[in-house]
Amino acid sequence: MTTTEELLARYKAALPSFVAPLHAKPVSIDRGEGSYIFDLEGNRYLDWFGGVLTTMIGHSIPEVVKAVQDQAAKVMHTSTLYLSEPMIAFAEEVAAVSGIPDARVFFTASGTEANDTAIMLANAYRGSNEILAMRNSYHGRSYSAQAITAQSSWSVASMSGLNVTFIQGGYRLRSPFRELDDEAYTQACIGDLVQMIDMATAGKVAAMIAEPIQGVGGFATPPDGFFGAMHKELTNREILFISDEVQTGWGRTGEHFWGYQAHGIVPDMLTFAKGVGNGITLAGVVARKEIMDSINVLSFSTFGGNPLSTAAGRATLKYVLDHDLQGNAKKMGRRLTERLQPVIDETDWIAELRGRGLMQALEMVHPGGIEPDAAITARLLDEAKDRGLLVGKGGLYGNVIRMAPMLAITEEELDQGIDALIDAITSLN
Ligand SMILES: Cc1ncc(COP(=O)(O)O)c(C=O)c1O
Repeated sequence: MTTTEELLARYKAALPSFVAPLHAKPVSIDRGEGSYIFDLEGNRYLDWFGGVLTTMIGHSIPEVVKAVQDQAAKVMHTSTLYLSEPMIAFAEEVAAVSGIPDARVFFTASGTEANDTAIMLANAYRGSNEILAMRNSYHGRSYSAQAITAQSSWSVASMSGLNVTFIQGGYRLRSPFRELDDEAYTQACIGDLVQMIDMATAGKVAAMIAEPIQGVGGFATPPDGFFGAMHKELTNREILFISDEVQTGWGRTGEHFWGYQAHGIVPDMLTFAKGVGNGITLAGVVARKEIMDSINVLSFSTFGGNPLSTAAGRATLKYVLDHDLQGNAKKMGRRLTERLQPVIDETDWIAELRGRGLMQALEMVHPGGIEPDAAITARLLDEAKDRGLLVGKGGLYGNVIRMAPMLAITEEELDQGIDALIDAITSLN
């Protein structure tokens, strides 16, 4: 039988050096069940990262497994050149839950490709290559997605055909406006937005793209209503708003089904990926018809909307709605905050607990200030793992622990994870 150690040697020999296992002593995943994964040696871990928020509701959920198996036995690929019921039905279902009026859905194979498409649509609709994006953003790994990403640790190159201006606001802890209250903070960022449009662009901006809660950026969360205030300024200038819901969608934030709903607006477009297939490749963009139809040539994404993916998407969305997993994210998220906050308040090397629902994070700093501490973050990650809990890492400086339990997590499983995390934190005091 293969061991984790052998697999690591083969990983290093076969994969590029720019991918790397998360843990100092890497974890193999042999199989999953609900909130848990099992490594090749049979060790069990509570999974609070889901392969970066992609196994969304739980591992090997029977309803999703059956939908995929049944579809695989029928037909696995068709493309948009043919009429495929799962693809069309899922487009109808996504349009219905998107909140975007007269919505059209274009499926892609990744979040990167979904964002590329949204930017391409904005370019075509507005006749402009000027884009606004948020500081500390992450939108993917193609040239254009990197161009709208504001984290140099993820940027291989800055070249693209886009003219991008980055706006203050997503990441409050390291903003020059961080001392201000919610309202004043929002107004200061609006001032920056207006000034950057007036000073750094040629005036006709196509779109602004933003993650309602920044994922890779460490679950950085602006005040409620923040993007609503920005939206007013954008609408006055006919600038489209694209909500990147790749991490915040499908009820994960608990209070809302989409991250944008915390801001009292409806975006012109939204992009989705990761969790919607509960692990199967599935992504896309939703836009109002008039925007979607601004591409007036043929366009095509080979794997976008293939029947296997959309069967998984339909089964996942049905499970989310039938089991009110948004409600569970709200309830479990509240419990997570309530139990962790007192510990964080007493820990001088954790600057804050932030996020929403089942999307919460801890940012590690050197005591007495906000200088990032990536070393203690790596230790906390491994201490949690040694206690049977897998959490993720993130943040501009690699100093954030990201927690994203399965949306179907039970109270008992949640408490088990919280106990492990508190014990891991205590061990580092
Ligand atoms: C908010 C956000 N947008 C886009 C992407 C890119 O998605 P993908 O890795 O599927 O290309 C990611 C991936 O982490 C993401 O977090």
